[in-house]
Amino acid sequence: MKNPVVLAPMAGVCNSAFRLTVKEFGAGLVYAEMVSDKGIIFKNEKTMNMLYIDECEKPLSLQIFGGEKESLVEAAKFVDKNTNADIIDINMGCPVPKITKCDAGAKWLLDPNKIYEMVAAVVDAVEKPVTVKMRIGWDEEHIYAVENAQAVERAGGQAVAVHGRTRAQMYEGTSNWDIIREVKQAVSIPVIGNGDVSTPQDAKRMLEEVGCDGVMIGRAALGNPWMIYRTVKYLESGELIGEPTPREKIDVCILHLDRLIALKNEEIAVREMRKHASWYLKGIRGNAKVRNAINACTTRDELVNLLTSFVEELEEKQSVQAG
Ligand SMILES: Cc1cc2nc3c(=O)[nH]c(=O)nc-3n(C[C@H](O)[C@H](O)[C@H](O)COP(=O)(O)O)c2cc1C
Repeated sequence: MKNPVVLAPMAGVCNSAFRLTVKEFGAGLVYAEMVSDKGIIFKNEKTMNMLYIDECEKPLSLQIFGGEKESLVEAAKFVDKNTNADIIDINMGCPVPKITKCDAGAKWLLDPNKIYEMVAAVVDAVEKPVTVKMRIGWDEEHIYAVENAQAVERAGGQAVAVHGRTRAQMYEGTSNWDIIREVKQAVSIPVIGNGDVSTPQDAKRMLEEVGCDGVMIGRAALGNPWMIYRTVKYLESGELIGEPTPREKIDVCILHLDRLIALKNEEIAVREMRKHASWYLKGIRGNAKVRNAINACTTRDELVNLLTSFVEELEEKQSVQAG
């Protein structure tokens, strides 16, 4: 990794179109969205498409999830042999009942022995490095972050990313960085800290206070790859670069849209892009009307016209105000 700034895996977000864009903004490592082990084994078409990685995105970590050893190992072997991912990551943090009901995601956090057994089996079966992304625990009464991370290390896992929330917290409350620090002190593999890094200054504080080796950014990068660039620069030189202009945001939003169209097709891409466009527009004054209109868009032209006329009107208003 050329720097310690890591894009978090985000389902429905971190496909090749977004990852490539974030990579161009300087991320040291990008994670792909989680992929189902069963989807890989049954060669589900949608799942297979999720395994596409552009060479320019590397280094990239591809995350798989599952609850049974056999299927997880089979899926990992497939990723090992048939993708150009650099790292195979195992999801031990997803809090969604649909996933935990199948003993996958955050369910693992209740049992360090199972973690050891599963990670060891995957490590034995593949050549690529294996890592784990976990939450600190299942709930307040079951926080085994240290034991779980040690189990990963003993099993041959090569790094661990820790989101400082329990499964019960979902995305509420705050990320507990003290527990991430305890993990860092308890293992010798690299630890990537995660949770509530909203500004470049937060990233620096996390690296300093937790002593972790990498800092993972999720929600703050939604519609905002500049967060990655600004963080990289801030960590490198202490310089805090300004926020992008509305025009810059719209230009990157359209680039992202075009990459998504190339990856999927226009209909799917435009539908998926609605939420991204809304994120790109966040913080720009007077965006409510255009955000509503975006939700009815079905074609690239409609979406691009809405975005460009919004930014043109905004610039006109600003130039009138400037006199
Ligand atoms: C929309 C969304 C999708 C997510 N999908 C995944 C996922 O596929 N795998 C995973 O390990 N974590 C996933 N997460 C959790 C993030 O990777 C990250 O741990 C969490 O958002 C906390 O970091 P943040 O405060 O920087 O957002 C997701 C989070 C969001 C908001």
